[in-house]
Amino acid sequence: MAVAEKDFAKQLDSKVRLVNKELGRILSTPGWVASELKRPVRYALEGPGKRIRSAVVLWCCELVAGKVNRNALTAAAAIEMVHTYSLIHDDLPAMDDDDYRRGRLTCHRKFDEATAILTGDALLTLAFELLAKEINEPKAAVKLIIELAEAAGPAGMVAGQKADLEAENGRVNKETLQRIHTNKTAKMFRCAAAMGGICGSTMLTTGGGANERQLKRLREYGLKIGLGFQIADDILDVSASSVQLGKTSGKDVKQGKATYPAIVGLEKSRGLAEKLAKEATAALKPFGKNADVLRELTKSLSNRTK
Ligand code: IPE
Ligand code: IPE
Ligand code: MG
Ligand code: MG
Ligand code: MG
Repeated sequence: MAVAEKDFAKQLDSKVRLVNKELGRILSTPGWVASELKRPVRYALEGPGKRIRSAVVLWCCELVAGKVNRNALTAAAAIEMVHTYSLIHDDLPAMDDDDYRRGRLTCHRKFDEATAILTGDALLTLAFELLAKEINEPKAAVKLIIELAEAAGPAGMVAGQKADLEAENGRVNKETLQRIHTNKTAKMFRCAAAMGGICGSTMLTTGGGANERQLKRLREYGLKIGLGFQIADDILDVSASSVQLGKTSGKDVKQGKATYPAIVGLEKSRGLAEKLAKEATAALKPFGKNADVLRELTKSLSNRTK
């Protein structure tokens, strides 16, 4: 591993720890999750996810404010909860029907379908409750809630998921494919970057914070790495093993999913992912060296094997 790569792995690890600690704090605070839901909610959140979206929140806050603040930790936990809910529902028999996630049984296989549906509902709602109660400035809370609702809701991830299911075994053109992937995945990454920038903007004491122009750049960065992330996910489905991925590989072809390898081919998919990584990096230009960790993230996502 090159030095930059090693250093990046360390930096990601430190963000993963922060996110996990924050999730742990919430799970062990009485009042957030009732006893009936404690086990499945904990099971879902404690699975070894890569925590990329939440790390992006923390890094983008750090970029504009100089350090991670309390609001960014809350926002990171909130987006991780919404993401985890989306995976639980994505794996249900009525959707992608998978038995494994994050190297363990999926929520509905570990418990039962009703529990998995309700655990998803719980995580989605808890994320917004958390933002409403814990963000220390009402204006910032509203901005973050809007950001997350737009990314995850009926004009974002949920719309992408619906279109993804409708496209199964059908004929999908490139424009529709890009729209599906943008909605189901890229918007959550754009949201992560924007949430980090917004949280950074509340660090009035340091005089830092993202202005509108910076936020626009962060959003662009997030959207590009997010689309690249889903293309890589599609590529890995046909090229990596289930053990490597912690979820069942080779499912997309079986289920007739609209994926980049299926529609444009493997080589073109790789080329597109590279192009998006370049565009994401270009969006960071005004931030100079301070954005190096986000550049490293882009590289590591392009080369990811899980
Ligand atoms: C999986 O996301 C779903 C996609 C949008 C491709 P991740 O690959 O980030 O899943 P975890 O959180 O690491 O399990
Ligand atoms: C994930 O797309 C989309 C979500 C928003 C959860 P996939 O269905 O390809 O994700 P995996 O491969 O099951 O993780
Ligand atoms: Mg799916
Ligand atoms: Mg799936
Ligand atoms: Mg997939």
